[in-house]
Amino acid sequence: MIKIKFFIDSGKIEEIERVKSYGLLDGVTTNPSLIKKAVESEKQKGRVVDMEKYIKEMILIAKGLPVSLEVIGTTYEEMVSEGRKLYEKFNPIADNVYVKIPASPSTEENNENNFDGIKAIKELTGMNIRVNCTLVFTPEQALSASKAGARFVSPFTGRVDDYIRFKNKVQFDKSDYFPGSGIEKSGGVLEDNGITSGVDLVEQIVITFDNYDIRHTEVLAASIRNTRQLREVALAGADIATIPMDVFEKMVSHYKTMEGMRKFIEDIVPEYSGIFKD
Ligand code: E4P
Repeated sequence: MIKIKFFIDSGKIEEIERVKSYGLLDGVTTNPSLIKKAVESEKQKGRVVDMEKYIKEMILIAKGLPVSLEVIGTTYEEMVSEGRKLYEKFNPIADNVYVKIPASPSTEENNENNFDGIKAIKELTGMNIRVNCTLVFTPEQALSASKAGARFVSPFTGRVDDYIRFKNKVQFDKSDYFPGSGIEKSGGVLEDNGITSGVDLVEQIVITFDNYDIRHTEVLAASIRNTRQLREVALAGADIATIPMDVFEKMVSHYKTMEGMRKFIEDIVPEYSGIFKD
């Protein structure tokens, strides 16, 4: 039976440890921006960061669980070489490294290196290096990455919503809820090339993979901005959700749960509390 896995989307060791202490940690995803945040936060505490040591510690904390580390190159050659380096340096520690390769590394439109991501995925997976294909914004990218052998594909749920709002000049704050069913405006649903929300993208990939019984690639819903979006990617059938700490922290709170607790505590009679005494 497939059940959704919760990864933490963070490079901060203390956050990874906190989620682990909740008993909810199924894996870790990082990217250069998350590593930057972690390094800045360590520096603020007056600590000197030895990056290699820091990543090794992170990998050990997540022993037995996948940890995604991203390459920084933008060509096929660079990404293959960096992917190998990441794997050789860090995988021997706990055999849990996944190399993150972008669906397309191009930083310009119509760049000839567009397929370098897919080529790098094929090459690395051919060396038995596990790959998480990142920055996925279409089912076509997800299918191509899967055909190249990726173990995870990461649709960027929140960033799809950002893009749809940006293209349609909708004012928003990143944490604002964007309905998985999309936003109706001027008689139609806002979209990006047939994708009506980040959740819709996740769902389209899940359905496509199901159509072809694709089992070697898991759908990892990334860029999750709030708990409702997390719920919707679960409803859409994501295999994994990678969750930032601020969303994790809100996952189990509810006003009525807290209110119910107050009442239960108020109603404890000595006859009942007595049964807990040694
Ligand atoms: C995950 O692996 C991604 O790097 C991450 O979820 C991106 O999230 P963001 O869009 O909030 O930066």
